[in-house]
Amino acid sequence: MSGRRFLITGGSQGIGEALVEAARDAGDEVVFTGRNEDLLAEVADRTGATGVAADVSSAEDNARTVALSVETMGGIDVLINNAGWGYFAPIGELDVGRMRELFETNVFGLVDLTNKVVPLMKDQGQGDIVNIASTSGLKGHRNGTAYSASKWAVRGISQCWQDELRPHDIRVLSICPSQVQTNWGGKTGRDEPNKLFASDIAETIMAALGANRRALWTEIPIFATNPWQSE
Ligand SMILES: NC(=O)c1ccc[n+]([C@@H]2O[C@H](COP(=O)([O-])OP(=O)(O)OC[C@H]3O[C@@H](n4cnc5c(N)ncnc54)[C@H](OP(=O)(O)O)[C@@H]3O)[C@@H](O)[C@H]2O)c1
Repeated sequence: MSGRRFLITGGSQGIGEALVEAARDAGDEVVFTGRNEDLLAEVADRTGATGVAADVSSAEDNARTVALSVETMGGIDVLINNAGWGYFAPIGELDVGRMRELFETNVFGLVDLTNKVVPLMKDQGQGDIVNIASTSGLKGHRNGTAYSASKWAVRGISQCWQDELRPHDIRVLSICPSQVQTNWGGKTGRDEPNKLFASDIAETIMAALGANRRALWTEIPIFATNPWQSE
């Protein structure tokens, strides 16, 4: 399958970047976002995708991103809500302001952007929305109040949208990766062969999108073969 029009948030590195590459390799058009302009330019130059400097927690930026996607590609067939970050602290020491900030990106930004894309998909009579949740949204863990709650929210929101949007042939899928060796959280240089790489997540998503439209993969947890966490 090729020729689809992708909008990918947080495509300047990590899982989002691997998705930009996978979609371009499959012959799809891609607009992607991020905030670091150097990284955006590097990925855009290498892949031929269109990079947009836009913060998903900003309603103005989201409106601009959707307008630019329509201008560049004529519409959006696949929305991938990937942009996200983590904040971890024990209850008793939690900075609730920081938790609110995290929700602005991981939850409210995702909802705001999708709110602006769904009318286009309904008009087209078809679309796919992929929300990147986490195994932290499947099982809570210590220090995870803010992050885990945001990813449980993404899973709950995905289920609501599945119910609302299936009659419009808009598939909604939530992906729950376990630990992936990106630069997430400031970690760099991880290269353990039995643990997940961003490309594993991208391949899974492309396979789910390639399924016959009558098939909806509602949620996909992805674990590494080797269960032990790296530092
Ligand atoms: N790595 C893991 O172990 C793991 C596991 C499960 C789930 N996830 C989820 O997978 C997603 C991607 O994670 P990753 O590991 O690829 O992280 P990453 O390497 O840190 O990349 C995050 C991407 O999101 C962008 N981003 C962050 N906040 C943004 C905002 N407000 N507006 C626009 N773009 C923003 C970043 O670009 P800029 O910084 O330039 O804005 C970057 O392109 C996240 O939702 C994360 O929670 C990751």
